[in-house]
Amino acid sequence: MARLTDRGLTGGMDPILVLGGTGKVGSRVVSRFNQQGTDVLVGARRTGFDWLDQSTWDPALAGVRAVFVVPLDGATLTGEFVSKAVEAGVERVVLLSGRGVDVPGYGSDDNTAGLTHVLGEKAVRELDIPWTILRPGWFAQNFSEGFFAPAVQAGELRLPAGDGAATFVDAEDIADVAVAALTEDKHAGETYELSGPRALTMAQVADAISTASGREVRYVPITSEEFIAESVRDGWPQQDAADFADVIGAIRRGLDAHVSDGVPRALGREARDFATFASNALWSAVPSPWRDGRPST
Ligand SMILES: NC(=O)c1ccc[n+]([C@@H]2O[C@H](COP(=O)([O-])OP(=O)(O)OC[C@H]3O[C@@H](n4cnc5c(N)ncnc54)[C@H](OP(=O)(O)O)[C@@H]3O)[C@@H](O)[C@H]2O)c1
Repeated sequence: MARLTDRGLTGGMDPILVLGGTGKVGSRVVSRFNQQGTDVLVGARRTGFDWLDQSTWDPALAGVRAVFVVPLDGATLTGEFVSKAVEAGVERVVLLSGRGVDVPGYGSDDNTAGLTHVLGEKAVRELDIPWTILRPGWFAQNFSEGFFAPAVQAGELRLPAGDGAATFVDAEDIADVAVAALTEDKHAGETYELSGPRALTMAQVADAISTASGREVRYVPITSEEFIAESVRDGWPQQDAADFADVIGAIRRGLDAHVSDGVPRALGREARDFATFASNALWSAVPSPWRDGRPST
């Protein structure tokens, strides 16, 4: 059915709403839909959608057929939002959650980002419409576009990760799985844990980035207490710094070193390797990870 939208008369199917559509994962989902010619709406504060202002939710959901939900960490609003989405006639929901959400001891009980995902997953599983949950591990793009980017630029990754390793996942793979789940019936009811194909220690990450970027980066292991103190000194809220130290601790404790099968299961191909990410990243154009005083993880 043709619809009149603020972007003119569009033919074909109703649009897909991508929350976090300007972020690391959402922007890649949006660009895939744009390349396919699929009608897509970006949900972010700069396009008028605000998680913290519920009067913006209904306008964002009007006439939408499917939603990619990138939750607001620290808020517990996913349940209310997906209920509104169903009321508005949305036919499919794909949720971005996180690996470790169901692993005892992964994060502490008062980790607010963890609670966002635990409650968000519960609400999505209870929906009467098709849903899919994506549980990515640590994003490779944290080093080029997210929290770790300034440390990469400064040449020193100071983290409480010890000698632990993680199977960093490329946000390009997360976006590929999200697009598949938003457009294909076979992913309904699936929970996909997403990782890269091998585990790297932070020292190996620093080497891979140094090789790809031509910029020397070294890893300096520090304690959680040092990390929290340094982050607060850089302007982080104490709770955010503590939450982040907590989840980096999961790497140190060996809880992120396993390979997950979500990318091959959803897409029938292997996940991208960290070296591929590192050689494709634009290391000379690393942006600030700070948005409105909050770090982007
Ligand atoms: N980074 C990791 O390693 C990792 C691993 C597993 C899971 N995750 C999960 O991934 C999610 C974040 O995804 P991401 O890294 O792709 O996002 P991101 O790069 O941090 O970007 C955040 C997005 O949310 C939007 N946003 C921020 N505050 C908002 C608000 N109040 N209302 C509406 N939109 C808002 C931002 O746009 P505006 O600024 O324009 O509003 C932007 O589009 C989190 O739930 C995190 O727990 C991350």
